[in-house]
Amino acid sequence: MDNSELLSRMGVYTSRAPRYTSYPTAAQFTTEIGNSFLVDQLEALPTDSPVSIYIHIPFCERLCWFCACRTQGTRTSRPVEIYLETLKAEIRLLGKTLPKGVKMARLHWGGGTPTILPPRLIDGLNKTIFDHLTPADNFEFSVEIDPTLVDKDKITALRAGGMTRASIGVQDFAPKVQAAIGRMQSVEQTRDCIDLLRGAGINSLNMDILYGLPYQTEKSVLETVAHVGELNPDRIALYGYAHVPWMAKRQQLIDEATLPDGPARRGLFTKMTRALGDFGMIPIGIDHFAKPGDSLSRAANTGGLRRNFQGYTTDQCDTLIGLGASAISKLPGGYAQNAPKSSQYLRMIGAGKFATQRGVAMAAQDKLRARAIELVMCDFALDTTDLQREFGGAVDALTHPLQEIRRKFAEALEFSATGFIIRDHKRALARLISLEFDEYAHEGARYSMVS
Ligand SMILES: C[S@@+](CC[C@H](N)C(=O)[O-])C[C@H]1O[C@@H](n2cnc3c(N)ncnc32)[C@H](O)[C@@H]1O
Ligand code: SF4
Repeated sequence: MDNSELLSRMGVYTSRAPRYTSYPTAAQFTTEIGNSFLVDQLEALPTDSPVSIYIHIPFCERLCWFCACRTQGTRTSRPVEIYLETLKAEIRLLGKTLPKGVKMARLHWGGGTPTILPPRLIDGLNKTIFDHLTPADNFEFSVEIDPTLVDKDKITALRAGGMTRASIGVQDFAPKVQAAIGRMQSVEQTRDCIDLLRGAGINSLNMDILYGLPYQTEKSVLETVAHVGELNPDRIALYGYAHVPWMAKRQQLIDEATLPDGPARRGLFTKMTRALGDFGMIPIGIDHFAKPGDSLSRAANTGGLRRNFQGYTTDQCDTLIGLGASAISKLPGGYAQNAPKSSQYLRMIGAGKFATQRGVAMAAQDKLRARAIELVMCDFALDTTDLQREFGGAVDALTHPLQEIRRKFAEALEFSATGFIIRDHKRALARLISLEFDEYAHEGARYSMVS
């Protein structure tokens, strides 16, 4: 039986599942979690523990129709300036709350479009960050860059603030596809942006591209990949387009009749994966690629790959603190999310407090299941003897999900007495297998397509 028929029978082309950038997923967040949970968790961090910081800039000049990110359109600088003052107040509050000695290992600016900020605001935000948070020795600073909204002065300001890695939004280069997703961006604009970044000494570049978009064909996506290959990034995120118009209302502008179906999506992914392989890119996890010498490839080879809200990462910190409207913090005891609307966020921080509005506390069971899911999503393998070292006898709780995996995926996986391995061409099953460890997943939940 060929791989595609097997994947089809296992439900890859018809099923929906979380992308498991967290467990429990955001669907489990409740308003029982508030500021007191966040403050208790932050105050209890060991004095020498490293933390990662995520800064959310929820503004864009253009609102692309395909985009499911939490952001709002603006053409004036006033709302951005007000928001940044509030963000700085939140950073000062964090600096006061964290135990002395806690250092910032990673800093990531995402959005939205961080490059909407003019150099003056970039400098001001960085000054506040570094006045209140101390970078660790191996500090890394990455920023999401929109090539149509960036210039030399902004990149110079980001570099002066310590930026070490850039993540560039591309999605697709075919004009017909771009028109259908409301995002025009030429290869030349993208190349100019990359030249500016490299000219400023930023030599670690990621590029986001998508499969599953309207009108994409195997021929058109290979042309996009050829342009990407020529631009020569160090890493690529090849995300499946998540069509979730009930959550991201902008997507109602996309004609569903033009979207490829499940098998067609998988076909696009397979073709793009092969073409990226021809450029020497190594597949990482379910949807990332990296050059062999890149730290992401090295982490994947040595069992050091991790998964968080930014996708796959080498970041080993157990604590990721999200700042800004809608930002989510991952804390040792659970998750805390800031108020999603800018107006609520501004009001809560304006009152001198944090802006946690919902989240979830993790019981020991959740931590065990979260680690099992992370291993499936990152290593495509699970061995209960490894988990036993960390979680002891609690691992018995995985007996039933493991039996179910053995029953449902018998033909697809390699089993041992204590676990299983998902081999290369079956990796598309990772989200469905993770679902077996998810105690909260329920039938009828509106997740995105697995394929
Ligand atoms: C904050 S955006 C990119 C930064 C910048 N604003 C830009 O447009 O270049 C982060 C990434 O999320 C991905 N993304 C957004 N909406 C998506 C969707 N519906 N399905 C899959 N990926 C999506 C895109 O690849 C996008 O580049
Ligand atoms: S893709 Fe980027 S620019 Fe477009 S709406 Fe999303 S965050 Fe904004």
